[in-house]
Amino acid sequence: MAALDDFLHCPAPAKINLFLHVTGRRPDGYHLLQTAFRMIDRGDTLGFSLRQDGEIRRTRDIPGVPEETDLVVRAARLLQQKTGCRLGADIRLDKHLPMGGGLGGGSSDAATTLLALNRLWQLGCTRSELQTWSLALGADVPFFIFGETAWAEGVGEALRPLALPPAWYVIIEPPVSVPTPEIFRAKDLTRDTPMLIMPGFAAEQTNALLEQQGRNDLQKVACRLYPEVQSALDALGKFGAARMSGSGACVFLPCTSEQQAAGVAEAVRSEWRVWHAPSLDRHPMHAWVED
Ligand code: C5P
Repeated sequence: MAALDDFLHCPAPAKINLFLHVTGRRPDGYHLLQTAFRMIDRGDTLGFSLRQDGEIRRTRDIPGVPEETDLVVRAARLLQQKTGCRLGADIRLDKHLPMGGGLGGGSSDAATTLLALNRLWQLGCTRSELQTWSLALGADVPFFIFGETAWAEGVGEALRPLALPPAWYVIIEPPVSVPTPEIFRAKDLTRDTPMLIMPGFAAEQTNALLEQQGRNDLQKVACRLYPEVQSALDALGKFGAARMSGSGACVFLPCTSEQQAAGVAEAVRSEWRVWHAPSLDRHPMHAWVED
């Protein structure tokens, strides 16, 4: 295995869904969505080191995540398959984001793996190739390759850039892990929210629309199955319009300044695992791949 210094160190930022509407269901069971993805400046970190023998190896075990199902390993193998590349890598993953948290941790790790190995293996794949291939790893992965605040449709893969003013977010991590498939297959999930027709994608139009009409359709089901999510929403809801991200468990509160976010986080810290972080308009590795 390579020495630590030989690793190419890469960030994998978290995302939140500013709103999430379920507008239908495809014959294959996947759900049609409208959502707005925004990255926040906190996440996992990964390290990559070249192997000449073609093997993909993790440098340490992750409890509960066998190598065969690990999205990072699957992303590396997918890239080998699609390009015929015979190089390999040692991959070190430092996990900071919760699993089953709705912050896209696993998806972001997978996207970072594709971006990093595209460079390390000198493959020259384009953003659009990586985005298309990455959908096989999960519906949220293409967004991280896209790498900018996005309005998303389809199952989350039809993306267009969204301009939003900078913001700070307070995030509570309830002490539960929510399996996404459980939320999507619930009988009481509403799947018929009418499609929002966007008048345009400029900041003033989208911000107002998101605040007035946006909600998370998965929130009601998640709160019924995991009451901790509802308690976290109640705690943050005292300070403003709190909402769940993705299929949960994490909930967030948008703030206009660091000071406001720090104050809210401090007020709930005795009861909850909580942190605050600013929005991130571009993935730090955005320029690593050509459009
Ligand atoms: O794509 P990802 O692996 O993150 O999705 C996990 C599960 O969530 C899927 O297997 C599917 O059951 C459900 N899902 C869905 N519609 C989406 C995204 C996810 O039904 N748009």
